[in-house]
Amino acid sequence: MPHTTVAVAALLCVAKGVLGVDLQHCGQAQYDPAEYVCWENQFLCPIRAGEPLSHCAGACYSKFMYTCTDNVVTLLPPVDTPFTLTVDNPGLPIHGKPVTAAGQHWSLDGQTSSYCPSQVGSECPPGNSTVIVASEGRAAMSVMVPGGQQAYLDPYWNMVYTQAHSAYIPSGSTVTGFGAYQGGGFVNLNGNGWGWVACPPRASGGGGPGWNLVARNATNAATLNECHSINLRVNSLPGSTLGAWQYT
Ligand SMILES: *[C@@H]1O[C@H](CO)[C@@H](O)[C@H](O)[C@H]1NC(C)=O
Ligand SMILES: *[C@@H]1O[C@H](CO)[C@@H](O)[C@H](O)[C@H]1NC(C)=O
Repeated sequence: MPHTTVAVAALLCVAKGVLGVDLQHCGQAQYDPAEYVCWENQFLCPIRAGEPLSHCAGACYSKFMYTCTDNVVTLLPPVDTPFTLTVDNPGLPIHGKPVTAAGQHWSLDGQTSSYCPSQVGSECPPGNSTVIVASEGRAAMSVMVPGGQQAYLDPYWNMVYTQAHSAYIPSGSTVTGFGAYQGGGFVNLNGNGWGWVACPPRASGGGGPGWNLVARNATNAATLNECHSINLRVNSLPGSTLGAWQYT
């Protein structure tokens, strides 16, 4: 008799799933609702960076880059105005917090750092938010300073920007391959779509005292395992918006 009890308990354990998760049904399939979403009780799409991927005629897609038009997954139009960015992953404490420029570096939920020369004075933009422009695969800070400030991935795949009055970009940097989509996200198209991660203070990934933004790829993914996948949401601004005289 005791033997039977043990056997039944073991079987129940298996039914609950190897990892002890509560599986749900999607049609005939079983799935873990922490990892997948079920559409119309028949289509499973993965949850990526906290986003349950949408479903379009048999394909799963991210609303940060695509839409579903007449049952076809279609790229969103590129954003053609300046924009700010916010972190998107509902599971993180920095969800909805801005990307902030400081120390030639894009941080998350930090303080924007900018400078206005006294000769320019009241003509300077407020300089308290981080405004970005993007076109043709490139990104830059939306600034007044002559020469502008280009944004790019440094050799460690941190998102950084050039100093005002300098075009210096270290070798090994990546200056193209960025997509910014209307009603969508700011996407790194380099490195086969591994996406962005937010690295908590003191986790690997470099950066300052706050959360750091790093672009993941096949090579660095393993070293970023303390970091969390995020999307960067584009918040469009009126056409001529300048963020600062220069970001510092
Ligand atoms: C920036 O400053 C302006 C004017 O001082 C203010 O209206 C605005 O709310 C501030 N924005 C942020 C993001 O702090
Ligand atoms: C991935 O990023 C690392 C820096 O974190 C860089 O050294 C490496 O070259 C990148 N890999 C690819 C395939 O671009």
